Amino acid sequence: MPEPRRPLVAANWKMNKTVAEAGDFLERFVASIGGLEAVDLVICPPYPALATAVEWTERTPIRVAAQNMHFEAEGAFTGEVSAAMLRDLGVEAVVLGHSERRQHFGETDEALARKVPAALDAGLLPILCVGESEDQRDAGETEEVLAAQLGADLAELDGGALSGVVVAYEPIWAIGTGRTATTAQAQEAIAFIRSRLAERDAGQAQAVRILYGGSMKPDNAAELIAQPDVDGGLVGGASLDPDDFLAICRAGVR
Ligand code: PGA
Repeated sequence: MPEPRRPLVAANWKMNKTVAEAGDFLERFVASIGGLEAVDLVICPPYPALATAVEWTERTPIRVAAQNMHFEAEGAFTGEVSAAMLRDLGVEAVVLGHSERRQHFGETDEALARKVPAALDAGLLPILCVGESEDQRDAGETEEVLAAQLGADLAELDGGALSGVVVAYEPIWAIGTGRTATTAQAQEAIAFIRSRLAERDAGQAQAVRILYGGSMKPDNAAELIAQPDVDGGLVGGASLDPDDFLAICRAGVR
């Protein structure tokens, strides 16, 4: 029997929360994580709140993640931040390829192919987001889109490094819309992602955590995370409130 995968629940704050607001959230959150030892907890603040999040979560198991990074270590890339800079700050993980970055900021599969190994090399846990649009789902192209994203974004990953990547399946039509995927849709897509990863390495694919993201809420998280291939959640809107996010984290205890 393969080892059971440790659930992971991540708060993607997007462009929300000042330093003071991040502190208010974390003061409350850090004091309330008793009983969540079986779940990996990740908070993804905007860049200006990273340092305060690292301070608040010192001596706790909570990991702090950035929402993006550049693949180069340093250089003439105005407005960008490198993996080494994030590590220097105490950041331990990074969200890569979120659909909002792909849609609005020109994030490409070519860049992601370099970002994933750059994150791992620097010691950051990459959380790679993939997902189809509503039109693509309606056209029956979901699996094709997921396969293409995974193939391209993991193209430069070392053979042995696959199990160190976290994948988040985030159907674009479910993000911020309140239209959560059904448990069956989430399980089906995530099982497909795992089957594609297994074509690279069957053993490691069993160890890869694959999250669901898209309008995950306290009242639907438990049934989503109970699906056999769903290993946790990447939570946007509902992660802004500490009580809602805690409830979702508790749904990750299985
Ligand atoms: P949502 O966002 O929970 O607000 O739908 C999820 C995400 O974009 O990561």
